[in-house]
Amino acid sequence: MIKVITYGTFDLFHEGHYNLLKRAKDLGDYLIVGVTTESYDQTRGKLNVVDSLMTRIENIRKTGFADEIIIEESIGQKIQDIKKYQVDIFTVGSDWVGQFDYLKDYCKVIYLDRTKNISSTMLREQNMQIQRIGVIGTGRIAQRFMPEVRQVSGVNAQAVYNPHRESAARFAERWGLDCYDKLDDFYAAVDAVYIASPHETHYDYIKSALQHDKHVLCEKPMVLKEAEADELFRMAKERKKILFEGIKTAYCPGFNQLMGIACSGMIGNIRNIEACFTKLERTDGRELTDLKYGGSFVELGSYCMLPIMKIFGENYTDVRFDMIKAENGLDLFTKAFFTYPNGMATATCGLGVKAEGKLLISGTKGYIVAEPPWWKTTYFEVHHENPGEVEKYSDRFIEEGLRYEVSDFLSMINGSSKSKFKLTRSESVAFASVMEKFLKENQRG
Ligand code: CTP
Repeated sequence: MIKVITYGTFDLFHEGHYNLLKRAKDLGDYLIVGVTTESYDQTRGKLNVVDSLMTRIENIRKTGFADEIIIEESIGQKIQDIKKYQVDIFTVGSDWVGQFDYLKDYCKVIYLDRTKNISSTMLREQNMQIQRIGVIGTGRIAQRFMPEVRQVSGVNAQAVYNPHRESAARFAERWGLDCYDKLDDFYAAVDAVYIASPHETHYDYIKSALQHDKHVLCEKPMVLKEAEADELFRMAKERKKILFEGIKTAYCPGFNQLMGIACSGMIGNIRNIEACFTKLERTDGRELTDLKYGGSFVELGSYCMLPIMKIFGENYTDVRFDMIKAENGLDLFTKAFFTYPNGMATATCGLGVKAEGKLLISGTKGYIVAEPPWWKTTYFEVHHENPGEVEKYSDRFIEEGLRYEVSDFLSMINGSSKSKFKLTRSESVAFASVMEKFLKENQRG
């Protein structure tokens, strides 16, 4: 019996997939089809897959060509499958010519002609209205956003706005965007906005964007007052618009895997979380001179609160802050202590003091540790009482990692996301509430 294997995502099942499977089956007697999982697709940079894994499997089953359907979860799995299923022929479409020649040590490799003029990417683009994104603010983070947004299909960065006309024009020139003097004209040219302006301007921009019926992705911290966060989310809901706080960690695959494992019971009941993020900044930079909105906690607190709120929830019984301040009163190093009915947590942030920026999650049966930069999660370990018993996990975090949040933002706009918001509205409101308390205690509120 000749066994044949092929792999693919098979999103929005189309004629090209059908032809490929038919010809793959004709190559032998028994066809195995490997279907990629969502998380594997994400790690290889294939974002915005529309159909769920179950739908994609069902579509393949319906063709009647597959004798067996398996799941492809990770890189390197193909060799294992070929050995395990004693495969004679590996086949894929001709778009992959040469890329699987390394499998020739294990079986025959055949590239089949690809069906012309059809692909899942094409269908996704036809099905989706391309979302035109406008960027507000032209600072460092906006510069990092541009190459990332270009990696996500279905969105087109279109326009930029900055009241400082010259900065906007420079940014527009560099990235090939349209530049507008009037905010109304800018809104008229886009479907959604990415806000990367100074913190204190977020609230007004979000409000005006929503009033113009635009979806909003706003850099963290979105706002620094609970009532403002509440009001904006309510407004977005009323207007049926998506409002997202852009904390990149929340949307990246590795962090989501980490949260899944933490909440799976693998380390028992979680009792303690220590999240630390420090980044030494120049003393004359905005972060350490903006007397109202600068300092360590406002800058980095959102990252550290993220795992805490995700695991323990928003109903802490107490939060208090200890800090080391610079002469100008801004915090160079801050620890926020959270108390929960069954646990405790610290969020440690530093712009002027360096620490070992770990994420440590302790439970009744073990602990999880993620080394810096855990906020761009690529690797973590699960430890148990026996020091020899360590499970290691890794995932990819591509470049600046902003593509993950853009991809989720787009999926939510198109209503095609199978998952809920990865960062919930109530979590964003809770972050704003802690920031507000922190600023009030520092007479900055
Ligand atoms: N395929 C094909 N002809 C097409 C499209 C896909 O023969 N027009 C083949 C691919 O070469 C692969 C299999 O179908 O062997 C599954 O491909 P997949 O990547 O899922 O489909 P695409 O339409 O290429 O998806 P995308 O646009 O997301 O890359």
